[in-house]
Amino acid sequence: MWREWVRKVEVEPSLYAADFARLGEQVDALLGAGARIFHFDVGDGHFVEPVTIGPVVLRSIAGLVHERGGVLDCHLMVENPERHIRQFAEADADSVTVHYEVCENPASVAALAREHGLAAGLAFNPDTAVGAAAAAAEGFDVVTCMSVHPGYSGQSFIPESLERVRALRELVGADVHVQVDGGVGPGNAPDLVEAGATVLVAASAIFGHEDVPGAYRDLVRSVA
Ligand code: DX5
Ligand code: ZN
Repeated sequence: MWREWVRKVEVEPSLYAADFARLGEQVDALLGAGARIFHFDVGDGHFVEPVTIGPVVLRSIAGLVHERGGVLDCHLMVENPERHIRQFAEADADSVTVHYEVCENPASVAALAREHGLAAGLAFNPDTAVGAAAAAAEGFDVVTCMSVHPGYSGQSFIPESLERVRALRELVGADVHVQVDGGVGPGNAPDLVEAGATVLVAASAIFGHEDVPGAYRDLVRSVA
């Protein structure tokens, strides 16, 4: 799955910063600009402060995304992620990423995701040791280095994240995708790719512009 989805390096629009009154239109424009993987941020009001979006919204765009060859990558910023995996599978998710900090047994969460036909990612926070998270990444397709404290879009990139990405890339095998999430834009994207990231999540760097597909293309060009 992730192996086929990523064309060397993938810029992944995070819908968190979309205009939700025009969600379908913006997703359609991004698909037209070449976006393939869409990032869907789920916050539960416990693991992270805000309650964000959930399966109902996911289902509303799943048809459009899949029809055009896109996929939906759900970032579950939630406690007890295993309780929610079935709902996301039923709402037509393609991949779920859970947080290392809330998984007692990450391997069993990855196995549960696979039982539901989903790919699996493991994310870790800026104050979590890279080595610990990387050691738990066995069985996952993608490992996500958070470059902001999870919860909100529009935060500034934490500079130490660059070296954390480099360390992560050295620890996980070449078959695992390294995703970076938070504060990513054309200014730091080339360095992140050089450090070993293959998937760059971006919300405000794309949706913060009048020309949303143009901003997506600019970010893709910055790492081409
Ligand atoms: C925040 C989410 C991110 C967020 C990124 O905790 O996990 O995916 O949408 O937003 P930007 O790109 O604006 O930092
Ligand atoms: Zn996210």
